[in-house]
Amino acid sequence: MPKSLGVVLVGCGGIARSHAFALSKVPNARMIASVDINEQSAINFKERFGFETHSTDLDAVLARPDVDAVVIATTSKIHGALITKALNAGKHVLVQKPMTASLEEARQAVALAKKTGLKLMVSFFELFLPPVERARQIIEAGLIGEPFLFKAMMAWHTPDVTKGWRFDPEIAGGGVILDGNVHHVSNALYLLGNPKIESVYAEYGALTADVKVEDTAVILVRTDKAILEISGSNRLQEPGGATMAFKDYWQVFGTKGTIQWDAAARPTFRVFTEDEKALDPLLANGWVSPKLPVMPPDHREFSMHINGEESPWVPEHQHFVDCCLNDTPVRSDAEFGLTTQLILEAAYKSGKVGRRLSLEEAQA
Ligand SMILES: NC(=O)c1ccc[n+]([C@@H]2O[C@H](COP(=O)([O-])OP(=O)(O)OC[C@H]3O[C@@H](n4cnc5c(N)ncnc54)[C@H](O)[C@@H]3O)[C@@H](O)[C@H]2O)c1
Repeated sequence: MPKSLGVVLVGCGGIARSHAFALSKVPNARMIASVDINEQSAINFKERFGFETHSTDLDAVLARPDVDAVVIATTSKIHGALITKALNAGKHVLVQKPMTASLEEARQAVALAKKTGLKLMVSFFELFLPPVERARQIIEAGLIGEPFLFKAMMAWHTPDVTKGWRFDPEIAGGGVILDGNVHHVSNALYLLGNPKIESVYAEYGALTADVKVEDTAVILVRTDKAILEISGSNRLQEPGGATMAFKDYWQVFGTKGTIQWDAAARPTFRVFTEDEKALDPLLANGWVSPKLPVMPPDHREFSMHINGEESPWVPEHQHFVDCCLNDTPVRSDAEFGLTTQLILEAAYKSGKVGRRLSLEEAQA
C-alpha cells in the first residue's frame, strides 16, 4: 500500500481554499498540482497552500503516474465532464456538490466509478461536521426514537445577481436547489440512514430578481417513515453580507426527542430526549448540549460558514485520502450522489407539473 496519495486540485476559486487548506493538514496527502483555466488562480494556490506545481493543462497533469486523485472544485456544470476525464485517466475523485448538473451525467459517473473500481466521492462537507456525526449516532442509538420530521434551511444573501456564475444556467446548471438545498438533502439521507423515498414535491422560482434560475425553493420529501422539509434562498435581505446573513440549520424530530443544529446559535447543537438521564432538571429540563470536538485554532479560517468552531474540511479530506489508500468505502459515494440528484431532479420536475412525483415518475 502506498504511504501517501498524490492529489491534484482542479478549480482554484472560493471553496477550493477550504479543500487546499484541508489537504495541507492531511499528512498522507501529497499536494502535487493546483490547476485552473485561469493561470494566476493556479499560481496563487500553489504559493498560498504549497502545491508542488501549478498548471492550466489538466490532461498533462493527469498523465503523471504519481497523481492518484483529483479534487474537483470548479463551477458546477463542468463537474460531470471532469469526473469522466479523471476516472478514465485512472484517478480517484472527490467532487464538490452537486456531483453533476444532470441526471444522465450522474448515471454515467456511477457506471464509470463501478467499471474502473476507483473512488468517486461527493464532497457534501456537512456530513463531516461533528454535530452531524453526533446526531447520526444519537439517532442510531434510538435516543430520540423514530425520526418522523426533518426540517432544514440553508439561505444567504447575494447582493447582485449580475455578478458571478450562480445565476447563469449555462455554468451553474441550476439555482439554489442545486447550490444550497442539496446539502440538506444529503444531510437528511445520511442522518435518517438512506430512507426509501416515496415522493417529492417542490415549489421554487426566481422570486426576487429577473434571473433564469430559482433563487428560492422549498422541497418536501416523503420517505417511508418521515417527511423532509428543505428550504433555501440565496436572496435574504439581512445585514452582514453573504457571510453574516448565512442561515444553515436543521432539526430532526423523533418520537422520543428532538435534535437541533443551527450554525449561528450558541450552543449550535441541542438535544432533547425522554431518556431518563437527560430528564434531570439540572440539565435544562431535558435539553442537553453534547460536547463536540473543538477544532484547532489554525483550522478556523477555513471552517464552517459563520461558525469557526466546527470544521468539516480536514476530517473529510483525511477520510477521502484514507479510503483511497486503503480501498475502503467512502461516506458519500457515487450512488449516494445519484440519489441526491434523483431527489433534486424530482423536485425540479414536480415544481413544473405542480404535483408530487415518485422518483420513478420523475425519471420517466
Ligand atoms: N460546500 C460548499 O460549501 C460550497 C460552497 C461554495 C461552492 N461550492 C461548490 O463548489 C464549486 C465551486 O464554487 P466556487 O464558489 O468556489 O466557485 P468560484 O467561481 O469561486 O471558483 C471556480 C473556479 O473554477 C475554475 N474553473 C472553471 N472551469 C474550470 C475548468 N474547466 N478547469 C479548471 N478550472 C476551472 C474557475 O476559473 C474558478 O477559479 C461549485 O460546484 C459550487 O457548487 C460548494
